[in-house]
Amino acid sequence: MLFPITYRVNARGHLEIGGCDLADLAAAHGTPLFVYDEATIRQRAAEFVSAMGEAGRVLYSAKAFASPGFLRVVAEEGLGADVVSAGELELALRAGLKGDQIFFLGNNKSAQEIALAYQAGATLVIDGAYEFELLQRVIPEGERARALVRISPGIKPDTHDFISTGQLDSKFGFSIENGQARAAVETALRHPRLELVGLHSHIGSQIFDLRAHQAAMDVMLDLLVELKRDLGYEPANLGAGGGLGIAYTKEDDPPTPRQFVEVIRSALAAGSDRRGLKRPQLVIEPGRAVAGPAGVTVYTVGSIKDIPGVRRFVAVDGGMGDNIRPKLYGARYEAVKVAEPEAAGGELVTIAGKYCESTDILISEIRLPPLQPGDLLCVPATGAYCLAMASNYNGMPRPEVVMVAAGQARVIRRRETLDDLLAAEVL
Ligand code: LLP
Repeated sequence: MLFPITYRVNARGHLEIGGCDLADLAAAHGTPLFVYDEATIRQRAAEFVSAMGEAGRVLYSAKAFASPGFLRVVAEEGLGADVVSAGELELALRAGLKGDQIFFLGNNKSAQEIALAYQAGATLVIDGAYEFELLQRVIPEGERARALVRISPGIKPDTHDFISTGQLDSKFGFSIENGQARAAVETALRHPRLELVGLHSHIGSQIFDLRAHQAAMDVMLDLLVELKRDLGYEPANLGAGGGLGIAYTKEDDPPTPRQFVEVIRSALAAGSDRRGLKRPQLVIEPGRAVAGPAGVTVYTVGSIKDIPGVRRFVAVDGGMGDNIRPKLYGARYEAVKVAEPEAAGGELVTIAGKYCESTDILISEIRLPPLQPGDLLCVPATGAYCLAMASNYNGMPRPEVVMVAAGQARVIRRRETLDDLLAAEVL
């Protein structure tokens, strides 16, 4: 699934999402424009929740995209949120999430962040020995912060395969291999300001091979056996993180949310039974797999530069400021012409951005129908980690975001203005 589930080519031959013609949206809201399809968000979120059933809970990883207008829809489907900063916490609370639906993660939380998370009633995910000291300072005497301890299970996945080395060399989590995980659990159990409610792990992002999650679950359950035997500790909750990959190109064929949950659920159930462990409640925190497929970006074509025999550059009115992923991760994207979304063949072009860097290329080679200045292009699967990682580089205001449903579009984040650029400047 590259496009949102409401993708349709309408009577005008235009690409339509959520019953809205993207050309009409571009005319009304300008470009670059992020368009989120409410039906897709709900469908993805609900699939995680229904696959999870009674086995545990689903948090949405807000780092993928955290506008309150978006979080509200996700929360309506029964998801909580994982946040990693005071900023994301504030966005989640403003979206109406309650503290007990929120986990606060991060490898270098400030004392202030820990205090805010505690006051909000969020659950902390302890990631590093320094946090034990901060808790001592920040949590009032006689009170305890609910917390999980983040473990590094030592599984390093990648898109095609995974290897179980390199686990030590991560800034996240307490490593099992060198004994730090066990020591952290001991510290947490003795800690006067902390109530240990479980263990947490996360092995990576954009993962297609679910065997990596299975392997991580087995490593975690082996640790649980050791903790039960030596410390008499059995966690009530076990966090398995996020990481489910999505399709960015036609060649990508990721597992579904249901498959992701079922693999982890059954690894937990069978693995606990086999080891004689009480089954902990499972906690997962998908980000990309909820937000990614629900969002598309609409750009307007401007300058076209031909270098005969070499390349045709088609420049759009956005680029690395609203989607850094091609530049940062070598991510590949598809694009279609809004007025002819299903045109086959076409000419080979490079879609460039408008930022002052040679590497500001959104798509290095793609076949598209003939393009002229003013034409609209739509890039699918941009709902996660695009606007969330957007910058004002080159003095570019961030794009507008609309949520579409049943032929209606509502602005959930307005286009930034030049005044917004100046808002924090001291003139
Ligand atoms: N939980 C933890 C502890 C995480 O670190 C992350 C992502 C998630 C959950 C959510 O993972 P997801 O389900 O979205 O894969 N900017 C990069 C992705 C960074 C992911 C960081 N952590 C990108 O654009 O590909």
